[in-house]
Amino acid sequence: MARILTGIQPSGALHLGNYFGAIKQIKELQNSNDLFIFIANYHALTSLKDSKALKKNTIDCAINFLSLGIDPNETTFYVQSDVKEVLELYWILSTYTPMGLLERAHSYKDKVSKGIGASHSLFSYPVLMAADILLYDAQIVPVGKDQIQHVEMTRDIAIKFNNDFGEILSIPKFKVAKDTQTVLGVDGAKMSKSYGNTIDIFSDEKELKKAIGKIVTNSTPIEDKKEWATCNIFALAKLYLDKTKQEELQKRYTKGGEGYGHFKVYLKELIWNYYENARQKREYYLNNKDEVHDILSDGAKKASKIAKNKIEIIKNAVGIYR
Ligand code: ADP
Ligand code: TRP
Repeated sequence: MARILTGIQPSGALHLGNYFGAIKQIKELQNSNDLFIFIANYHALTSLKDSKALKKNTIDCAINFLSLGIDPNETTFYVQSDVKEVLELYWILSTYTPMGLLERAHSYKDKVSKGIGASHSLFSYPVLMAADILLYDAQIVPVGKDQIQHVEMTRDIAIKFNNDFGEILSIPKFKVAKDTQTVLGVDGAKMSKSYGNTIDIFSDEKELKKAIGKIVTNSTPIEDKKEWATCNIFALAKLYLDKTKQEELQKRYTKGGEGYGHFKVYLKELIWNYYENARQKREYYLNNKDEVHDILSDGAKKASKIAKNKIEIIKNAVGIYR
């Protein structure tokens, strides 16, 4: 069984792009692998300077992932800051990280250009990410495209460390989900929190209707035949339909007699029904937060056991007293 590890930034509401671009893939890995998923709250601290919001986002993120199907019996699910060894390793690794390596990071430059303060933590963000990965001997790291460089840096740091001390650290590989297309937002651009064009998974029915109402379409009259291939309502509906159902919807487009309003109602129903089960679970966890804290504590215990063992080997190798 391969050890697969990934971190999630706790950052507010999840949208359909997050689901199809990341969460669904993670879920598919969970039964046949030794999967580690953690909430990267120390990473979030580099850009979120609101203590209430960070705490709330952390627990909300846990609730959302549990509701959408992360199974704590199958997966080691924990909060990054609950395993303190990660910060010890972060420091040790930073002594093996050349400045030049960090200076080449695209993500740092992007974030600074978007107005996030150029702090030391933002600069050394990839070293903490390397510690997240190397502490658990992760073999495969599923990430979005923007994070590939960080996993490559992890490899570079680990190789440099191993050159001095032998094969102590496992060299991980990144994995980018190939067949996930970019989910488009209501304006036809990539769905993203930063563009304000999202359809959120856990909005209530009224909000969902409102978001879908904003999907931009052309102005073909009701009675006319419509183009499904270029229609954003269709593109979103397709994510929830098997082949037969897609063909049925295509026929409705080409037949004419229905307006985009009808297709929007149809899409709303699809999305609403798809997440029915997740919504119920979420309601349950929102009312039973203690249970969520217990799940996270159990996950942290499992992770800590491995982390404690590994950090001893590493500290001993570099010569840290005791
Ligand atoms: P946002 O752009 O809304 O800030 P994030 O950067 O937090 O989203 O993305 C979290 C995960 O969701 C990443 O793995 C990313 O690849 C995936 N993701 C985000 N938006 C989309 C999208 N529109 N289509 C496909 N995947 C997406
Ligand atoms: N930086 C990642 C992101 O923004 C989150 C993350 C933190 C992570 N540590 C990780 C992902 C370790 C994979 C492995 O999405």
